[in-house]
Parts: sequence; structure tokens; C-alpha cells
Amino acid sequence: MPRIPCHTLLLFGATGDLSQRMLLPSLFGLDGDGLLPGDLRIVATARSYLDADGFRATAAEALERHVDAERLRPEQVRRFLDRLSYVPLDASNPDGFLALAEAVGPLDNGLAIFLSTAPSLFGPTIEGLKGAGLAGPDVRLALEKPLGSDLASSRTINDAVAAAFPEERTFRIDHYLGKETVQNLLALRFGNTLFEPLWNAGGIEHVQITVSETVGLEGRAGYYDGSGALRDMVQNHMLQLLALVAMEPPSQFSAAAVRDEKVKVFRSLRPIDGSSAAASTVTGQYTAGAVAGAPLPGYANELGKPSSTETFVALKAHVDNWRWKGVPFYMRTGKRLPERHTQIFIQFKGVPHSIFASRGATVQPNKLVIRLQPEETISLLMMAKQPGLDREGIRLREVPLDLGLANAFADSRRRIAYERLILDLIEGDPTLFVRRDEVEAQWEWIDGIRNGWQSNAIVPKSYAAGTWGPSAAIALTERDGVTWHE
Ligand code: BG6
Repeated sequence: MPRIPCHTLLLFGATGDLSQRMLLPSLFGLDGDGLLPGDLRIVATARSYLDADGFRATAAEALERHVDAERLRPEQVRRFLDRLSYVPLDASNPDGFLALAEAVGPLDNGLAIFLSTAPSLFGPTIEGLKGAGLAGPDVRLALEKPLGSDLASSRTINDAVAAAFPEERTFRIDHYLGKETVQNLLALRFGNTLFEPLWNAGGIEHVQITVSETVGLEGRAGYYDGSGALRDMVQNHMLQLLALVAMEPPSQFSAAAVRDEKVKVFRSLRPIDGSSAAASTVTGQYTAGAVAGAPLPGYANELGKPSSTETFVALKAHVDNWRWKGVPFYMRTGKRLPERHTQIFIQFKGVPHSIFASRGATVQPNKLVIRLQPEETISLLMMAKQPGLDREGIRLREVPLDLGLANAFADSRRRIAYERLILDLIEGDPTLFVRRDEVEAQWEWIDGIRNGWQSNAIVPKSYAAGTWGPSAAIALTERDGVTWHE
């Protein structure tokens, strides 16, 4: 499909949480910067019975809640709300789609559809779209997670999608790929000559990827309890981060080249199965505790019933190829941890021989700390000599070489990840969306782990809210002489 912008956007799940918190504010942000096609119409749909004015009032409230007050200039809000119309729809009833098609109008100027609905509605919605003629060559479809709960269910969804939308018009969302900081990983690796020669088993001892969150269930009990940390965070976001760290340099920054390299990483992941699950993974579930001094209930209490769903997972993974032979990738993520941060930590190998040993100094191997959120910092820990005359021996100390990204780019607004993704969808650039073969390779690896848990009857260990997960997660790395970087 040629890269021409669509002039209509059809938003499913328009009254839902994602739409209110992220999608409408993102669209408003793009509109304010003049980045949307001038005549773009946004047709919103959801089950709630509202008319267009009712939906515009809901959208206005969402903007007030989720957009900085100084960016809410009245004439801009009015212009944005004017783009919106609304069609109530029960997606399980095919008849409703005809009214939707009528509201959308002719398709020759391109239609982008954003599907953010319950997974059970994916099938009927796609059928409905097809039946109403809303799946033709001028239509692109973006799908929000969860795209299945295992390989089999993800294939069912992918097959249903493929029956109406060919792969080049299917845009699977992983919102981590829309984050500026995540894309910056590519700039760091492939825009500098410095790191790449060392970016392999010869230069790197191990890698750590941490996504820690302080939030708990956030009113999503129904979804989260059926999912758990492995499927909610590792299957998608963390594996995408791992792929960006581990992939070979693509020949160009294009959808095919980047995604070809990422999928090779997923396929090179050493399976974790019944024989290795107990040694390579740790799962946990939070009990009552406190985050930042505030007392918090345990997961089962929040949920209102006992559960064996993991709210924390730590893993030791391997990418079995030449570049990464023998380099562990430790990953951990959890809810109700002490702080919110996403971080990639690269531990380089030490110097082959220390000339300072005879003078009493210890040389620490270099470390690269890439902090993706809440703040964006890249810090290379280097050895430096502590000033002095060294009468009692040389003293060396780790000193950070910091990349001051916040200052260097102080004049650019930090955008919501969805701004980038919605714009790419409207303009038809699939580079930052997940291809079918990627998502299926990701599920295949995750299913192996879940089968391993099942065959070993592994259940989550307790950790108090506000701590870094069960102590076994510390033992997972300490066994290899590695400490989690906090
Ligand atoms: C979502 C998960 O995909 O990502 C949530 O379903 C999680 O459980 C969220 O909280 C984290 O995203 P971010 O952008 O806040 O790091």
C-alpha cells in the first residue's frame, strides 16, 4: 500500500480507558502540532448509547483530565472536537456495521481503524467490518493487545485478521515501540561506532532488563488475573526491548529490515521448558506491604479471592547465536515494586589484565545504564583515578559519563507513545508495529515457560508490596555472581 495518509480514523472502544487516557489526548496533541491531515475525521464507536454531542462531551472531559492545562487552548479544543462523530455499536451484532459504514463514508481517501476492544470481540468485529465493506484495499487495521493468551489463541486472532486484512495493512501495537526512549536504543547502537564492536559475547558479560511498577491491579482485575506478569509484560514489551538490544544491525531503518532482525532474535531464544523452568525463572505474588510509605493490601485482597496469578516474574534467558553465546539476559518485572522504572543494564567484561593490581587498585568492568522511564538517561560507568599523590597506592573510582538527553533536547515536547504510533498508522508506516511472525515467535517462547511452570507445579512465591520481589529472584542472579542493578 502506498504511504498516503488516511483521511478517516475509526476508533473502536472509544469510551474505554485507553481511549480516554491515551488515544484522544494523543490525537489532540498531534492536531495541535498540525500533524493530522487537515480534513481528518474521527469516527468513534463503542457500545454506550451516546449521540455525537454526548461523545464530544466525554472526549472534552478526557482531555481536561489527561492533557496539560496550558495546551488546552479553547479554539484548539473546539477544532479537535469538531473532527469527532460517534456511532453506538454492539460489535457482536453484524447489522450495526452498516450504520458504521455509512458514518465512515467513501473509502477512497483511506481509512485507518484502531481496534482497542475485548479480545472476544476481535473476531465478530473483523467479520462485521468485512461484511460492511470496511476492509478493502484502502483500509488499515491497528490492533491493541492482548492479541491472544498463548500461541494457539494468537494464531486464531491472526487468522481471523488475515482473512480480511493482509499483513501489510495490519498494524499490531506494542506501545513500548512508540516510546522515544525505546527508539533511542537503535540510535545508540547503530548511530555510534563506539559500542557495536563490543556489543557481543566478547565484550559483554551479561544484560539486565527491568520494568518495575508501583501500581497494582488498577481496576483491571478481570484481565490481569487471567494474564499475569509473564503474558502481560514479558511476552510483548520486555521481549521487544530484548530484541532491540540483541538484534543484528538491520541494513536500513525500514519495516522489513528491522522486523526481520527482531524475529531472528525471538527464534534464537533458548527454550525454557520443564527441565529448566525451575532454575531459570522465579514467579511472585505481592502480599500486603507499603510503597513510598503508603500501606497497601495484598494481591488476593485487592482481587477479592485467592489466586495463583504471578504479579512478578524474573527470568534468565539466552539468545543462542554467535553474537550472544553464553551471555545471560536477566529480565524482571513486577507490580507493587518499590519504584517505577524501566532500565536496561549492560555489564561489559573487565579489562584482560589490570596494571593497577600491584598498586592496590581494583578495576571495575564498565557498565552502561540505559534508563528508559520515568526519566531518560544514558550513563556509561567508567574507571577514573581519584585525584591525589597515591602515596598509599592508586585509587580508582567508577565515574558516570552521562548523556544529558533531557538538556540536549529540552525544547522538544515528550510525546505519548501513542502519538507516534497513531501518526504512523495514519501515514501507513509499519516499522514500529509488530509483525505476525514476531508475535507468534514471542508466544511460542512464552508458552514453553508456562508449560514448564505447569509440569513442575511452580506457583508464585510471596513478596511484600514495596519490595523487589521474592528473595529467590535475588538468588537467581547471585548464583551467577550477578547483582540486580537498582
Ligand atoms: C501494559 C500492561 O501493556 O503496559 C500494564 O498491560 C502495564 O499492566 C503497562 O502497567 C506499562 O506501560 P508503561 O508505558 O506505563 O510502562
